[in-house]
Parts: sequence; C-alpha cells; structure tokens
Amino acid sequence: MKSLVLQEDPREKLVLKDSPRPELKAGEALVRIRAAALNHRDQWCRVGMYPGLRYPSILGSDGCGVVEEVAEGGEQAWLGQEVILNPNVNWGSDPEFQGYNYSILGMPTNGTLAEYIAVPVHRLHPKPTHLSAEEAAALPLAGLTAFRAVFRKGGLKSGDLVFITGIGGGVALFALQFCVAAGAKAYVSSGHEAKIEKALALGAAGGFLYKEEKWTKGPAKVAPLGFQAIIDGAGGPDFGEVAKMLAPAGNLVVYGTTAGNPSPIHIPRLFFSQANIKGSTMGNDQEFADMVAFVDAHKIKPVLSSVRPFAEAISAFDEMAAGGQFGKLVIRVSE
Ligand SMILES: NC(=O)c1ccc[n+]([C@@H]2O[C@H](COP(=O)([O-])OP(=O)(O)OC[C@H]3O[C@@H](n4cnc5c(N)ncnc54)[C@H](OP(=O)(O)O)[C@@H]3O)[C@@H](O)[C@H]2O)c1
Repeated sequence: MKSLVLQEDPREKLVLKDSPRPELKAGEALVRIRAAALNHRDQWCRVGMYPGLRYPSILGSDGCGVVEEVAEGGEQAWLGQEVILNPNVNWGSDPEFQGYNYSILGMPTNGTLAEYIAVPVHRLHPKPTHLSAEEAAALPLAGLTAFRAVFRKGGLKSGDLVFITGIGGGVALFALQFCVAAGAKAYVSSGHEAKIEKALALGAAGGFLYKEEKWTKGPAKVAPLGFQAIIDGAGGPDFGEVAKMLAPAGNLVVYGTTAGNPSPIHIPRLFFSQANIKGSTMGNDQEFADMVAFVDAHKIKPVLSSVRPFAEAISAFDEMAAGGQFGKLVIRVSE
C-alpha cells in the first residue's frame, strides 16, 4: 500500500513508499483511508522535535475512511461504514489526566497517512453525515484539543469574552467555531491581516496583528476588564503580555508552544488577579464523543486550507512549516 514514512535520514526524513498492508489482530478493524489531515505534531516529528520518535513510522493522527475488514472479537456491524478515528491511544480511566502509557495515533503507532490502517474497533466513530471525507478527516485531533481547551479548561459559556491566539492554526480555528457556536464573543490574533478577515467572516468579533508593536493594547481596549478565557497555542515572547489580558479569575489555557518558550511573565499580576493557568492536551474519549456530537448538532464544518493528492503530501508539511495555512491541510489518500 502507498504510505508516507518517517525515516532516519538526515537529508529528508519523509518518504512516499510502499509499505505492507497491516495485519489485523483480534478486535481490530482494517480501514481504507480516504482522506487524512496534518497536525503540527506531524511537522514536529519531521524535524525531530517530538518525544519518543520511532523510525520507520507512518505519520498521521487524523483520518476518515471505510471499514473493509473486522477481525474476530470486533463488532462486524462496522463493515462498510464510513468512519473517523479517535486518535487517543490508551487515555485511561481518569477523565482529568491521560494514563502513563498514553500515546497518539501516528507516533509511535502507525498512522493515517497510508492507504490502510488497523485500529481497535473502539477507536472507530461514525463519520458525521454533514461532512465530506476531507472535512471529516480534518476533525479528530484538532477538534478534540479545541473542545477540551474551550469547554473543560476554558469554562466558556454564552456571553463570555474569549481571546484565541494564532487563528490560522487548525486548533485555533476549531476553538473559534466552538466559541461562536456556544455564544461566546471571540477575539483573535494572527500574523496575517487576510487571516483576520477570514476569522471575522467565521464570526470572530475582532482581530489583532501580533506582528505589530505593542499589539496587546488593541485587545485591552475591547476588553478593558480582560477576557474570561484565553486559548493559546503559541507561547513565545508575547506570552507574558497575553497573560495580562486575562480577566480576574480567568482561565489561561495553554495547549501548544508554536512560538517557543515564553519571555518573562509578571507573576504578581497572575496571583493578584487569581489567574488560572491550565495546560490542556487532546481530551478523553468521552470528550471525543461529545465533540463530534457538538459538531453534528451545530453543523460545524472544519475549515480546510487545502486538499491535495497523496503524491504531493510532503508539500503540505512544507506549507505548515511556512505557516501560510488557514485551517487544516488535507491529503486525499484513496477514492
Ligand atoms: N497539546 C495538544 O494536545 C496539542 C494538540 C494539537 C496541537 N498542539 C500544538 O498546538 C500548536 C498549534 O497546533 P496546530 O496543529 O493547530 O498548528 P498549525 O495549524 O500549524 O497552526 C500554527 C499556528 O500558530 C500560529 N502562530 C505562529 N507563531 C505565532 C505567534 N508568534 N503568536 C501567535 N500565534 C502564532 C500561526 O497563526 P497565524 O497563521 O494566524 O499567525 C499558525 O497558524 C502546535 O504547537 C502544536 O504542536 C498541541
């Protein structure tokens, strides 16, 4: 089968090549992947900046496909169904915190950037009917991360003011769509004016260019008392200033660090404002089901930056590295 493999070669770690079709173990389903989507972790893996890298590995945490075979011990009713895959591997029994043998589909286990994948049937979820295969493939990892960050950690509800950093990102855009659907008033930042315009069209109340000098003065004007929640996947040199935008007793939710580790933070500001700084990663299996139900109920459509054929998959990684995308980078794997 065709596959995109991460290999240990300093010249180019990604290679499109034939790999053996996976063999099913008891309780597993064989899914023919129709579409897969990239997450920033795939690019971190490519450049060696992800923990526990294993070579060779098939990357990809997000996929939508059709169940072609179910091994003994698995529910045969899945046969022929269009599905998306829950990318959590072994979240465990504590809804607050993933277990110690937790991992994410696509490293170290083989992922969705291949014609076929074998996963336990309990990782299958019916494809939302209002989504195409390409749209559905874009949903799992980023949708789950945004859902937990916005609701469980951010505590957002109708009427709240929220600030979302780096709106061109896959997670950030789901966070915006979820906030808008929940009735929260969402402001965003971006490095690109055009992305802010697109975010406004999706329901953002306003946007600010983080590449401008002293840009956090803008958000301070629209929310003089601060934001009830800030959803941040960037970190970086602006983190201290972004943290100051939090309302008293607000939730600063951090799920990523695309811009690197933060500059110094004014700690007294945090304790005097009773700030809650909350790390958030992916989400438990119940949240995955709740996220898909929320997307279904609100008929939310993932924002796709581009869809390209499998033969051009590596160029999607280049596009992500350059940061030009607005939304998810999707690969059409098979018909
Ligand atoms: N903890 C988890 O479970 C989890 C899950 C998913 C992702 N992540 C992490 O979260 C981050 C985003 O992931 P993703 O897949 O959504 O990535 P992505 O689609 O590649 O988006 C990255 C975005 O970061 C924004 N950005 C870059 N520099 C910035 C800066 N200085 N200030 C503010 N924003 C900046 C850009 O927004 P603009 O283009 O608008 O400027 C860019 O679109 C990554 O670091 C990823 O590893 C963590």
